[in-house]
Amino acid sequence: MKDRRIHIALEARRLSLPRRQFLLAAGALLAGPLPAIADVPVPYDPSAMPPMDSRAAFIDWMKKNRGEDAGFLGQRWDRFQALIAHKDVWDDRDKRAYLMTPREEFVTKANLGRAYEWHYLDIGYGVTITGPHSVARMTNSLEIKPGDKVLEIGTGSGYQSAYLANLTDKVFSIEIIKPLAARTRALYDALISRGYSEYKAIHTRNADGYYGWQEEAPFDKVIVTCGIDHIPPPLLQQLKPNGMMVIPVGPPGAQHVLKVTKHQEADGTFQVTRADIYNGGTLSFVPFTKLEGDTIKGTHSGP
Ligand SMILES: C[S@@+](CC[C@H](N)C(=O)[O-])C[C@H]1O[C@@H](n2cnc3c(N)ncnc32)[C@H](O)[C@@H]1O
Repeated sequence: MKDRRIHIALEARRLSLPRRQFLLAAGALLAGPLPAIADVPVPYDPSAMPPMDSRAAFIDWMKKNRGEDAGFLGQRWDRFQALIAHKDVWDDRDKRAYLMTPREEFVTKANLGRAYEWHYLDIGYGVTITGPHSVARMTNSLEIKPGDKVLEIGTGSGYQSAYLANLTDKVFSIEIIKPLAARTRALYDALISRGYSEYKAIHTRNADGYYGWQEEAPFDKVIVTCGIDHIPPPLLQQLKPNGMMVIPVGPPGAQHVLKVTKHQEADGTFQVTRADIYNGGTLSFVPFTKLEGDTIKGTHSGP
């Protein structure tokens, strides 16, 4: 193993690969995990803002403060311009959350070159990482404030919760596919050991998210990243008064992404309002599946 590492290091030097690309290449070639590497050079500061007025200044700041690769940073910046043009991100704190989240860490190796494409991408187990435009619009619609307690249903790749960890220090995420939940937990732990200390805010669980996370309820915000034909009552129940949820609701392959607000009236009763964050447009999400015992069987939609 030692010899292979030396060989890969020499090969990387010969090819003059930047450190990030070298590590990714080495990770792909080596059978076992690499030792933890603290590669974020400056401790995380939730109030530190990367420059948002120039591509070059952004890349320079991120290289110095986050130790990330200029090539991926350039792609992140270019997608950022498209997010703004399409009005998928509008608040400055949300813009920062997008810019601070290294999407390339959450896609599969096979899709590394496509990390900043518009579309969702396969992550194995028959599920996907949601596309950056949908992540940005759904997250910004939730108006997350520092300290908000946020529940995500559908951890998947981990990208959404990583993005959320730049908006609040209390993120709870549930994934139904056991090996995927374990893989993403291991990824967060590896990133934390490399210096992404903001991901310490993320608590993960392998379970059927239909029933929420009762022990941690109530939540200020809930984000559902799989499609269903109704709003799960337990998720509505676990929302705080005046809390908000975004959830894709509709038939398979054509969901409306709804922003649901649980208003508390003066007499203490609750009113639920719904707004379509795509003004009538539909998207296709991975189905909201169901756990029976230890087995995933069917979905929570339908009769
Ligand atoms: C679109 S995918 C992943 C989205 C994820 N936020 C990301 O960007 O990578 C939706 C995820 O929801 C998960 N899922 C489906 N039904 C679920 C349930 N009942 N409870 C928890 N997770 C569920 C799927 O396994 C899948 O990982």
